Amino acid sequence: MGSFSGPIQHIALLFAMEGEARPLLETLSLAEQTNKPGSQYGIRYFEGTLKKLKVTVALNGQDPHHNVDNIGTESAALAAHCLIEAYQPHLVVSAGTAGGFVHHGTKIADIFLSQEHVVRHDHRIAIPGFDTYGQGRFPVLTLNHLPNLLQAKTGIITTGNSLDATEMDLDVISELNAHVKEMEAAAIARVAQRNQTAFLAIKAITDFADSPENHDEFIQNYSAACTKLKDTLVSFLTFLSDGRSFEEL
Ligand code: ADE
Repeated sequence: MGSFSGPIQHIALLFAMEGEARPLLETLSLAEQTNKPGSQYGIRYFEGTLKKLKVTVALNGQDPHHNVDNIGTESAALAAHCLIEAYQPHLVVSAGTAGGFVHHGTKIADIFLSQEHVVRHDHRIAIPGFDTYGQGRFPVLTLNHLPNLLQAKTGIITTGNSLDATEMDLDVISELNAHVKEMEAAAIARVAQRNQTAFLAIKAITDFADSPENHDEFIQNYSAACTKLKDTLVSFLTFLSDGRSFEEL
């Protein structure tokens, strides 16, 4: 992954929800681009530069029948495919909000960076070969300095297509030793892997994934988590804009 050794000159960030991206789009005054691939799916692109760093943001867009953001793995994979085909960025980041776990000492608005791999907890197929295919385990960037620099935690991130978690989901998540549960990272990482593109996930915690009230927590903490996410992303992009290589992350 990240098969070149020079400075990272182009980063692309994918967000499922516009509200997760809006603070960053406004802070960096990124300009919307038209006539790009994926508009039939609602995918939107924004671009700008920070010193020599090109920054592209892609949003999954909205579902025209339900008028809500296109969250979940199908839309994430489509957007990742369109984004990588159109731009060939050096680094793809799955950015957004996620659920954490009290027993790991996680707090609301904590920031997590992906570690080791991203994986899926609810793609269960108990047939040899398909079982490990379903779980995935897609590679993520190895980080040495970034957690300290961004005052972020690190952990295995697991992806599924529900905001809540069944008992079986929670058992699998525990077996996977995952610290973070969300709905896009593994789908994006799979597309990045197929395209030999480096991948990293950066997630802000809105709720406790094992709490029966996690929907309410998500709504209540969404704005604070998105602000923290924006602050972290601005620090990261500012760091990269000095011309950093993968080895410096
Ligand atoms: N996004 C924010 N919180 C989440 C959760 N608990 N599960 C999946 N995606 C999330």
